[in-house]
Amino acid sequence: MCGIVGYLGEKNTKEILLSGLKELEYRGYDSAGIAVLQNGTFHNFKAVGKLINLEEKTKDFVTSGFAMGIGHTRWATHGKPTELNAHPHLGEFSYVVHNGIIENYAELKKELQAGGTAFLSQTDTEVIVHQFEKNQKTAKNSFEAFAKTIKELHGAYAILLVTKGEAETIFFAKHGSPLLIGVNEANEKYFASSDTPLIGHCTNVSYLEDGDYGYVTPQEIALFDKNGIKKEAKFVTLSQNKILAQKEGYRFFMEKEIYEQGSVISDTLMGRVTENEILFDELDASLFDGISEIKLCACGTSYHSAMSASYLFERYSKIKTSIEVASEFRYREPIMTKDTLFVAISQSGETADTLETLKMAKAAGLKTLVICNVDNSSMVRLADASILTRAGIEKGVASTKAFATQITVFWMLSLYVAKIKGSLAQEQIASHIATLREVPSHVKVSDEMHERIKRLSKRYLHGHGFFFIGRDIFYPLALEGALKLKEISYLHAEGYPAGEMKHGPIALADPELFTIALLPKHLHYEKAKSNVEELSARDSTICAISQIPFDKADDFIEISPCDHYMLEFFEMMVALQLLSLEISIRLGNDVDMPRNLAKSVTVE
Ligand code: F6R
Repeated sequence: MCGIVGYLGEKNTKEILLSGLKELEYRGYDSAGIAVLQNGTFHNFKAVGKLINLEEKTKDFVTSGFAMGIGHTRWATHGKPTELNAHPHLGEFSYVVHNGIIENYAELKKELQAGGTAFLSQTDTEVIVHQFEKNQKTAKNSFEAFAKTIKELHGAYAILLVTKGEAETIFFAKHGSPLLIGVNEANEKYFASSDTPLIGHCTNVSYLEDGDYGYVTPQEIALFDKNGIKKEAKFVTLSQNKILAQKEGYRFFMEKEIYEQGSVISDTLMGRVTENEILFDELDASLFDGISEIKLCACGTSYHSAMSASYLFERYSKIKTSIEVASEFRYREPIMTKDTLFVAISQSGETADTLETLKMAKAAGLKTLVICNVDNSSMVRLADASILTRAGIEKGVASTKAFATQITVFWMLSLYVAKIKGSLAQEQIASHIATLREVPSHVKVSDEMHERIKRLSKRYLHGHGFFFIGRDIFYPLALEGALKLKEISYLHAEGYPAGEMKHGPIALADPELFTIALLPKHLHYEKAKSNVEELSARDSTICAISQIPFDKADDFIEISPCDHYMLEFFEMMVALQLLSLEISIRLGNDVDMPRNLAKSVTVE
């Protein structure tokens, strides 16, 4: 995820910016840059890759005395991770850094280009600085131009902008992406997109609210709300514990990542959904020409999202879909035909087995697509096309938000293909899109649900095993629920199709066998319910997850009312993640770094 820092004061500006960016490294990035205005001259440096590259480029640049600067770490969304796409972006005499996505950038860019503005990057961010400079031509002053620019932007943003004519002013705005102002007794002014860069420098911080904008100078912090009304910045004492700050108040990164799912799914959707159409700028519809089958290949959690996708592709896109475990596919001499689109799914883009299958598909002449979270990863570089999931860096070894964004992308892709194939009517696609837009609010963790799961987790710390059961697309979700639990609790757990229990596994049923039953109201409810009743009749301990109360269950996790089974899917996904998390915490395990596991599996 992108990160922002800013500084205005007498200290070593370059060092403050670079060390601030370093504190944001844990969020993930693929390029970085700084711009410093000192003695009327701008100095700008950018580098692809790790911060050490930027440090190398700036090693001969010295700042002393008063200066101001802005810095950024970029996680590519619009456009590749290149120097040109790295922030800060330059107009003629101003620089900008930005987190978030400017949804109307294409319209603004078109107008600016028609007026003769040349663009250097592929980013949405660059429109901000050009729009500001355009507005400056008619505005009374730079602040008026900045305020006008902010009003013209749609989307999510945290913005810092500096301009040559205002050598002691940093302009800022916040809407939907975090931004803080930090102060100290030396009267310096700091900015950052999270607490960590400010620790050790600032005593007090102000967390800006959505719609806030304004400017800082050495003497002043001028803050305005979304209606342009001037207000006082509210400062609170800054805690000085870095690890705690990185976890943003959560006990573990996994917990933070579960809570982040609403905002990362919004990022996944951003710019890709209109009222009645799915847009993937990164795809050419001709990718699907001559394609009569989709083959999905992955490992672990990504395999579960592939399996979920197979239900969506066959149901909505009416295209034959097969799924493959990458480590198996590699060695079983599979038959690959050129009417098959080969889709690799990987959070990291580096998993050795999946990467190898992608190479095999390419060698066999198949068209290839990668669904991935990391731009410029080996798989993204290799495939014919790629869709980025935009989950941001995932630190917890047990995947949560990466899975959530993969499912979101697949749902969108199934509609995209349905449009090409004409397998869904326009109104059906529009109705799905309306439901898709509801996903961020359905993955929001409610205090009530979290408390309930925390309480009931104490009853699931022993026993001789767990069965997670579901039907249809809730079967891969059951597999994923079981994987989450075994990864971090070290308890034995299996995912099973609910209807399959009576063909053998039901022999294990007794009170010490825990069944986590997924009972969606809107997909085969009665069928799944009778499978659970069979287990309950044999005295298995049942924890049902549903929006319909279930009297045969020993425990019940109630999800919020949903009128679509995919919303139930996302609600249940969160409940399963929280259940694993709370069981693992009670068992005293290291949730973020479970034993024997690595985040990126680059060996066979
Ligand atoms: C489970 C988990 C793993 C990964 C698997 C594939 O929580 O994270 O099962 O899903 O190792 O990794 P990627 O998606 O990076 O290819």
